[in-house]
Amino acid sequence: MQRQDDTAHAIRNTSWPTVAIIGLGFIGLPLAMAYARKGSRVIGVDINEAHVKRLQQGKTTSIETYEGHTLEHYLQNAISQNNFIATTDFSVAAREADAFIVTVGIPILDGKPLYDAIDAATDALAKVIKPGDLLLYRSTHIPGTLRNHVIPLLKKVSSLDIEHDVHIAYAPERVAEGRAMEEFQTVDVLVGGLNDASTAHAIEVLRTINQASLHATTIEMAETVKVVENVQRDVNIAMMQEIARFAQNMGLSTPELVGLANTHPRVNLLTPGAGVGGYCIPNAFHYLQVKAEDMGIELPLLAMSRDINQRVPITILDRIERASGWQASTWQGKKVTVLGLAMKNYSNDDRLSPSVALIDELLRREADVTAFDPLVALEPYAYARASLEDALQDAEVVIVTVRQHAWDRFSVEDIRRLAPPCRLIFDACSALATDQDRSISLLRV
Ligand SMILES: NC(=O)c1ccc[n+]([C@@H]2O[C@H](COP(=O)([O-])OP(=O)(O)OC[C@H]3O[C@@H](n4cnc5c(N)ncnc54)[C@H](O)[C@@H]3O)[C@@H](O)[C@H]2O)c1
Repeated sequence: MQRQDDTAHAIRNTSWPTVAIIGLGFIGLPLAMAYARKGSRVIGVDINEAHVKRLQQGKTTSIETYEGHTLEHYLQNAISQNNFIATTDFSVAAREADAFIVTVGIPILDGKPLYDAIDAATDALAKVIKPGDLLLYRSTHIPGTLRNHVIPLLKKVSSLDIEHDVHIAYAPERVAEGRAMEEFQTVDVLVGGLNDASTAHAIEVLRTINQASLHATTIEMAETVKVVENVQRDVNIAMMQEIARFAQNMGLSTPELVGLANTHPRVNLLTPGAGVGGYCIPNAFHYLQVKAEDMGIELPLLAMSRDINQRVPITILDRIERASGWQASTWQGKKVTVLGLAMKNYSNDDRLSPSVALIDELLRREADVTAFDPLVALEPYAYARASLEDALQDAEVVIVTVRQHAWDRFSVEDIRRLAPPCRLIFDACSALATDQDRSISLLRV
């Protein structure tokens, strides 16, 4: 029997909390929909007016899906059931909601954290919160941020006695983009409250959507665990870049090596690709480093891992040069097509994308670059083309950085058909099936 679309039945559950989600980005919007889908009334707050307007019209570019439906489907259902409104006005949220869930980030610029967004959100909340409200921070934090940065700001701005009148807690968001709606429900959550009442209030609000285990701990532990989770992926992938180089020189396939090693129950090697991107993993080392500097300690292994991952685009170009007997100058004027602008497979997120870093490096070497990614907006990238055919036309070298459905079933022969001059392909994500065409040299990570 076909599974029923339960969003059609998500009428308001009056025993659920009315929640305000602050920040409606990659995490905040699906989180808002997870609550609305359960029957909570959700007030979504974002400072980006154009984004809020689109959401009010039931439109989103999010590519999250859940149970065969797009996030846009859930958004339109939630709006029609009056379970969701989007606004730029914090006071609208404060009139209805008694739980405020913050999902604005702390970007890193040149290794230093930018607190502007989280400060602005905290400042705005401090002006509107009421006694008994819950402030639940779900952004990824530099360890110590909630107690040493956020709470002092709340105390400075609010007229309430912050430690007694409101509940404050931290519960890092651990879901992966693309699987958010599922993982909000199924992934364990860590919860650190300022006091027992704060922890209990946070657990009650988290429980609305989450059926997994909720682990009560300290604020600092929850903040640190989240960053360590991300950092272990950075280190694992950096290690695998080295292992991949070793395997290549041994004439071994890295994906096969990873697959076989992972048959061991206590081994979990990640698959190296064109590098590490997105908001979370590249920032993780810097989040720890900021605190480590404060404490006067060094993190040399983590620093080296970050550096290795940061340099993968250069490593790829160096490898192509070595395999082909080229110099750095050989790239001048060479037509190179990069397939993929997203930071990981099947994603539309191009934040800190290694694909873009790779193209920047190609442009520095004066290559003639075109790129294509069906999920990433063209506008910021002058070299991006609107179709695969346009992008590949005349390509002499093709570099596939991430998988997308547009070339999921491609073989080397398909590339050759669309790019007759192509003699070299670097497939960083093992996307292409190989065939008998020996006129193209195929390199893989
Ligand atoms: N993206 C992920 O996969 C992921 C996974 C786990 C955790 N996280 C963490 O979640 C947090 C959010 O990440 P994201 O990827 O959703 O970021 P995002 O940039 O996609 O979303 C942030 C949103 O907050 C809005 N915003 C900025 N300042 C604001 C303010 N003062 N008031 C209201 N809204 C404001 C922005 O306009 C944007 O829409 C980060 O801390 C990130 O590290 C992200």
